[in-house]
Order: sequence, then C-alpha cells, then structure tokens
Amino acid sequence: MSIKTSIKDHFTNSQFKEHFKSSGLKNHWNYFFQGDIDNEVSKQLYFDSELDFRGFSPEDLDECTLLYRKVFTQYPWYDEWKSFYQARKYLKELIDNPVFKGLVVRQDSKMVAVCLGHQRTWWMGKEFVVDEFFVENGRQGNGIGTRTLDLLTTNLLKDGYNRLILLTNKEIPAEMFYLKNGFYNNEKRTVMVKELGKI
Ligand SMILES: CC(C)(COP(=O)(O)OP(=O)(O)OC[C@H]1O[C@@H](n2cnc3c(N)ncnc32)[C@H](O)[C@@H]1OP(=O)(O)O)[C@@H](O)C(=O)NCCC(=O)NCCS
Repeated sequence: MSIKTSIKDHFTNSQFKEHFKSSGLKNHWNYFFQGDIDNEVSKQLYFDSELDFRGFSPEDLDECTLLYRKVFTQYPWYDEWKSFYQARKYLKELIDNPVFKGLVVRQDSKMVAVCLGHQRTWWMGKEFVVDEFFVENGRQGNGIGTRTLDLLTTNLLKDGYNRLILLTNKEIPAEMFYLKNGFYNNEKRTVMVKELGKI
C-alpha cells in the first residue's frame, strides 16, 4: 500500500471518525492540520474531508452567485459576467421557476459545488433539466462533481424521473465528465440561435 493510500485509509476510518466526534473537531483534517492547506499531502486530505449535501435554499443565492461568477469567468468558459447583480438575476430566474430543484455542496461550511435544474414533463416521462452545474475551481477533478451527480440521480429516481438532460459545450472537460458519467450526445439535436436586430 502506498503512503498516500495508507494515510487516506487512516483518515477515513470510521472508528477514528467516532473517536473525534466528541472532541468538537469535525474530522482528522481539522485535528492535524488546523485548516492549513499549504502542503500537497494536506491538500489531498482536504479533498477527502466530509461533504455536506443539501437542497438549495433562497439564502444560498448570494454565495452561489459569487461561486458561479468565479467558475464561469475562468477557463474554459471565460463568460463575461461583469456584474454580480446580473449573474444573481440570472440565477434568481432559475430558482424562481415553480418546478426548480437545486443541490448545494459544502465542505467545512464553504460552498464548493452547486447543481440547479428543473422538472420537465415530457411524453417519455418526467425529465430533469440541469441548468447549471459547477464545482469550485480549486476543487475540480477530485470527485465532487461525480458524487453530486450520483446523489442527484438517486433522488431523482426515487421521485420517478427517468432522464437527465443538459446543454454543454463540445470539447471542453465538462463534456468528458458527462460522457464518463453515462450521458450521450443526442446527434439528432442541434442548438439554434438567432441574433436579434441583425439581418
Ligand atoms: C464539470 C464539473 C462539474 C465536473 O466536476 P468535477 O468535480 O471536476 O469532476 P470529477 O472530479 O467528479 O470527475 C473528474 C472527471 O471530470 C472531467 N473534468 C472536468 N473538468 C475537470 C477539471 N477541471 N479537472 C479535472 N477533471 C475534470 C475529467 O474527465 C475527469 O476525469 P479524469 O479524472 O478521469 O480525468 C467541474 O469540473 C466544473 O465545475 N467545471 C467548470 C464548470 C463546468 O464546466 N460546468 C459544467 C457546465 S454544463
């Protein structure tokens, strides 16, 4: 067993988790590193600390807007969300949808991932359309997106949904993420856009 695997095993061992419950410290990460993420080993352990998954609530909107702008104004999207209020308005429109559902993921109380979507009643059954899905830049590629999608899928199956639908860009890391998680490209569909005011 490699040193890294052995340390990981130690930190995720349920006996140790029980032992630390009474100490007021959330987990071994807090005990040993006291929030210091300056070295590579501690960074790795940070990604293994517990994730807290909750349904989206209106109080999450401002923090969600900050995270949304941070993620989508950087590689590979470079969206030009210059105004916080414009981004907030966009997200508010999503959450005001009467058939909205959202998930927020926190790590040590900090928002690290969000999934926002809505129900679509289709002739093939109840579908869930993912409007936005994002993981904090520094935490991408550590399994948070996969775990969030797994939880979403479990909940949707329980609620009688039979398909997940979303739009993303071709040839960006997110496309590979979705393909790895069981999505396929619907070749029969295309996205049509008309720029208004232009001939
Ligand atoms: C797409 C996204 C939600 C995936 O979540 P994640 O936690 O990074 O993904 P996971 O760690 O669970 O899965 C890793 C896989 O996703 C893909 N991936 C996507 N973005 C990645 C990134 N920035 N870093 C590493 N892997 C990434 C890779 O294929 C990777 O597989 P690999 O480890 O075998 O190479 C997240 O990277 C993200 O928020 N990206 C920016 C915003 C975005 O593109 N959202 C989707 C819009 S539709």
